[in-house]
Amino acid sequence: MAEKSVESLRSHRWFGPDDLRSFGHRSRAASMGCIQGDYQGKPIIAILNTWSEINPCHSHLRSVAENVKRGVWQAGGFPLEMPALSLGETFQKPTTMMYRNLLAMETEEQLRSYPVDGCVLLGGCDKTTPALLMGTISMNLPAIYVPAGPMLRGNWRGQILGSGADVMKYWAERRADVIDREAWMEIEQGIARSAGTCMTMGTASTMTSVAESLGFSLPGASSIPAVDSNHPKMANQAGRRIVEMVWEDLKPRDILTDASFKNAITTVLALSGSTNAVIHLIALAGRAGIKLTLDDFDSLSARTPVLANIRPTGRYLMEDFYYAGGLRALLRALSPHLELDCTTVTGKTLRENISSAEIYSSDVIRDTSNPVFHSGGLVILHGNLAPNGAVIKAPAADPKLLKHTGRAIVFDSHKEMNQRIDDPGLDVDENSVLVLRNAGPKGAPGMPEWGNLPIPQKLLKAGVRDMVRISDARMSGTNYGTCVLHISPESFVGGPLALLKEGDMVELDVPRKQLNMRLSEEEMARRRQAWRPGNSLYPRGYGKLFMQHIKQADEGCDFDFLEGTAPIPEPEIY
Ligand code: FES
Repeated sequence: MAEKSVESLRSHRWFGPDDLRSFGHRSRAASMGCIQGDYQGKPIIAILNTWSEINPCHSHLRSVAENVKRGVWQAGGFPLEMPALSLGETFQKPTTMMYRNLLAMETEEQLRSYPVDGCVLLGGCDKTTPALLMGTISMNLPAIYVPAGPMLRGNWRGQILGSGADVMKYWAERRADVIDREAWMEIEQGIARSAGTCMTMGTASTMTSVAESLGFSLPGASSIPAVDSNHPKMANQAGRRIVEMVWEDLKPRDILTDASFKNAITTVLALSGSTNAVIHLIALAGRAGIKLTLDDFDSLSARTPVLANIRPTGRYLMEDFYYAGGLRALLRALSPHLELDCTTVTGKTLRENISSAEIYSSDVIRDTSNPVFHSGGLVILHGNLAPNGAVIKAPAADPKLLKHTGRAIVFDSHKEMNQRIDDPGLDVDENSVLVLRNAGPKGAPGMPEWGNLPIPQKLLKAGVRDMVRISDARMSGTNYGTCVLHISPESFVGGPLALLKEGDMVELDVPRKQLNMRLSEEEMARRRQAWRPGNSLYPRGYGKLFMQHIKQADEGCDFDFLEGTAPIPEPEIY
């Protein structure tokens, strides 16, 4: 059965030879209580674990690792748990996006520098999934992604609460004095009820669904709630399967193709998933030597129906999605829009993985004859404000704002926005367009999730709940509103957003996919001549490296030196 020989295992270079170095490796393994039969001649499986006490979404990953190990042992492998940087969305500042590429580098280099034949990746909180996958694609060792799983539904006074979306909703109600502090504190205690990732279709569930649709996870894995007993069983199965994958030599770049990336984009669109997926998918493809552009999202969006009725754009939560059949059922319903012959970590095709899936609630998971929206989960905009593109999640916007012209209220920083937004003297009305700049990859830096600009308090009290907001920032996948994001090039590097002045008229036309400012070419040229770049915050350290190498949003925000598939030599052992 085995296609690989023991001698061709990567780890054999460390443990096999009868020489001084191998003596050192074996004697130190012995010092940890390992006998040679534990590992000799077996695939060594790294379990890269992003568990941390500061990351509540991953607080259960130590026990998940134990279940993976059980599977690895049963299948004749040797598991080694290795800690990796934990990107905890709620606590890490200024933004986890600063550190996605750092975890990707750590992943690649850990796998390269240690005696590893295959790996199981444990993560789930937003940037963790793309980071672990980016590093693994670059290292190109057999790999399975085990998603942390979404947490249970939130609850407040009998009402279901969804991560992020309901935080923003009730925060607006609190600022409008519709709910009091006591109610707000009760919501705080009821919204996050278990270990696991946000249980709306935010960035976490979008990206774990991406991992599964790319073929990186076992079928159905991304939909299982973190605390469901099927989760440890899935982890155990992943441990068993990765050992087989090592013998089969089934590697990420055997799985990833142009078609599998198109499948992942289509899946994101059918889920009405997070806008962040646009950036991460372009970066992931770049690691596999595949060129994705914003146009790929735009053309697929025009013909992909939204089938998942999940918040923030729909009604239900991930737990409901799981009971309704989960991602396998959605992918089966989406089959006419997918390339079903793509290979996956099971060694089978996507078609085989989803062939027995069924929908158990036709309201949570729709079929193509009754979609939530007929198309347009994401819309890519262009125009004189966004020559290289911008993104809007149209189903999350107030439909009457999708074609709108308004006077710009411009904030040059997040700090300035916080200082001015609730000023009773701010000359703003519901038709204004709120603008935040210097919030992009280099400007903030790290492109934080500031794109869901708050509605001014005086307008909230007047009943306004949505306005057109534009920025070069990102937005949490759990948020909603008429928010134009990822404007590229960003203002900090001199993109046209930098030229906008308070009072200028901004035109958003989603049906025509346009974002423009009403300014003559001459006036734009005059302002461009007067524009001066800002200073970097980082004279040294990782921040300096970040500023020197980060790419723009439309290019995936990878570091320029990490892209591509140029071969890196295996380490010398001496
Ligand atoms: Fe971790 Fe939302 S904060 S997934």
